[in-house]
Amino acid sequence: MTKPKVFLTRKWPLKAEEALSKIFEVTFNKTDSPLTKEEIANGFYNHDALAPTVSDIIDDYIIEKGSKGKGKIIANFGVGTNHIDLNSCKKNNVLVTNTPDVLTNATADLTILLMLMVSRRTREGESEIRSGLWKGWSPTHLMGSQMSDKVLGIIGMGRIGQAVARRAYLGFNMKIIFFNRSKLSKKLGFQSKQVNSLKELCENSDYISLHCPSNKETKNIIDSQSIKNMKKDAILINTARGDIIDEVALSIALKNKYIGGAGLDVFSQEPKINPKLKDAPNTVFLPHLGSATLETRNAMGFKVLENLKFFFQNSPPPDLVI
Ligand code: DGY
Repeated sequence: MTKPKVFLTRKWPLKAEEALSKIFEVTFNKTDSPLTKEEIANGFYNHDALAPTVSDIIDDYIIEKGSKGKGKIIANFGVGTNHIDLNSCKKNNVLVTNTPDVLTNATADLTILLMLMVSRRTREGESEIRSGLWKGWSPTHLMGSQMSDKVLGIIGMGRIGQAVARRAYLGFNMKIIFFNRSKLSKKLGFQSKQVNSLKELCENSDYISLHCPSNKETKNIIDSQSIKNMKKDAILINTARGDIIDEVALSIALKNKYIGGAGLDVFSQEPKINPKLKDAPNTVFLPHLGSATLETRNAMGFKVLENLKFFFQNSPPPDLVI
C-alpha cells in the first residue's frame, strides 16, 4: 500500500521526524531555512498533507493551489492558527488540525520566567556583569519589585492562561483576576475572579499576562487606552501573539514610564522587531520561545502524527480546528 505523502516546512526534533517517517512518505526541510510561498504551494500541491509552523504564512494562494493537486489537510505544528487562512481552507475543503495541550506547561513556565525577569531587572543585572560595570553589592542597587502577593490579571483564561494562573496562585500567592470573552463556569482549582471588562482588569492588576488567540476581536486589544487604564508600575507580559498589542503605543508608554515594564516573547512582524519597541526601557525580549523545550517540540510532532494517522484512516482527527 502506498503511504500518504507529508510535506514539512521546517525541521523538527529528530525523534518526532523519525516517528513520522515510519508511517508516511515525508519530505523534510533538512536545512530548516524558511521556504518561499511558491515552495510551500508546490509542496502542498504534490503531497496529501502540509505540516507548517507559525513561521509560515499559509494564505489563499497556497491553499487553493494545494487543493487543486494532492493537498487535503494542513496539520499545523503548533496551537495557534492565525497564520493560516481558515476561510480559504473551508472554501477549498481543506481540513486543519493543531497541537493543543502539549505546549501548555512550557508556555506557562516561560510566562512566569518573563514576569520574574522584568520585575527583578535581570536583563540589566546580566549586562552589568558581562560589561564589567558591576561595582559590588549595595542596599539600593537594581531594586526590582516583588511578585509574590500581587495581583495578576489574565486576558484569555484558556488552557495556558489557567496554567499561568495556577503557578502564580500556588507558587507566588498571587491574587488572580481574569477577563475572558465567555463566562467561565467550571471550577478552576484555585481562587480567582472573572472581571466584566478589560478596563477593570487593567485598573486592578499589578501584572497583566496575555493568553488570548490573535483574531479580528483581539488585534491591538492592548492599545494606548488600555495602557492608560493600567497602574503606573504595571508589568505587561505577552507569550501569545504579537499583534494583540499595539507595539507603538507600548513603546511610548514604556519610554514615558506610564507603566513599569514589559516582557515579550512574541512580536507582530517576527522575526523583525519594531525599532521603537527595541529601544524601549524596562523590557525583556525573547525570540518566541514559549514552547521551545525538547520534550514539548517532540510532543507537538507526535500530535501532528496522531492527527494525520486519524485522518488517513478516515476518522476525525482529535485536534480538528476546521
Ligand atoms: C504555537 O503553537 O502557536 C506557538 O506560538 C508556537 O510555539
